[in-house]
Amino acid sequence: MMSKIDLTNIPKHIAIIMDGNGRWAKKKGSLRVFGHKSGVKAVKTVTEAAAEIGVKYLTLYAFSTENWNRPDLEVNALMQLLVSTIKKETQTLIKNNIKLDAIGNIQSLPKACQRELKSAMEATKENTGMTLVLALSYSGRWEMLNAFKSLLKEAKEQDLDLDSIEAKDIEKYLMTKNFPDPELLIRTSGEMRISNFLLWQIAYSELYFTDVLWPDFGVDNLYDAIQAYQQRERRFGKTSEQLNKVS
Ligand code: IPE
Ligand code: IPE
Ligand code: MG
Repeated sequence: MMSKIDLTNIPKHIAIIMDGNGRWAKKKGSLRVFGHKSGVKAVKTVTEAAAEIGVKYLTLYAFSTENWNRPDLEVNALMQLLVSTIKKETQTLIKNNIKLDAIGNIQSLPKACQRELKSAMEATKENTGMTLVLALSYSGRWEMLNAFKSLLKEAKEQDLDLDSIEAKDIEKYLMTKNFPDPELLIRTSGEMRISNFLLWQIAYSELYFTDVLWPDFGVDNLYDAIQAYQQRERRFGKTSEQLNKVS
């Protein structure tokens, strides 16, 4: 499977909407929480495989702004799972030279989550391999709204000429300011929507949808997605002829 992948054209940044844990559990006659626990295993597998193949940034949508509207029982279970997973996996992240980062409204997470997250980020900050970015209590509109507010504040305080504002002035206030835009966005479970994920950053991402439910998503599924990406022609508005012109 891996032999079909062009190692010289690995996306630098892959973003994943990990969806389908609940349906996976239901199919097995189990509780949704069991689906989330199994989803953590897929996170481990995919994180290690992505790092190994040379992906530089992997952003995982783990909890959206809208997910706060789920039943308390499920929200609490997800938060607990987050705490226990980060605690348990920090050593593996260090061993694999992976740096942990997070985007989203981190202050809105329970204190225990914030603590674990902070200590894992601190413990892995010198790692130079892949950066694993967890999107927690995140949504694209929330992030953009905050960026606009910060920019407007700056404009007001520094009396900026509004006509001089460029896209990069907005980007510097996004939580992803240190990461390149994802070349590839994967969503599992057959849903074909973005659900308020990286709205600004995916302007030119290649989208890949698969029916596989997240807990079943494995190394071969990741390779399939990368292979599909490698078969796309990324034109960025140009014509195919322009891209293939031999000069
Ligand atoms: C994705 O799986 C995980 C989170 C959103 C936290 P879901 O929990 O959305 O699973 P489905 O979509 O109900 O199957
Ligand atoms: C998106 O999944 C959020 C995460 C994967 C964390 P959802 O399952 O919450 O998305 P919708 O609400 O069905 O679009
Ligand atoms: Mg879902």
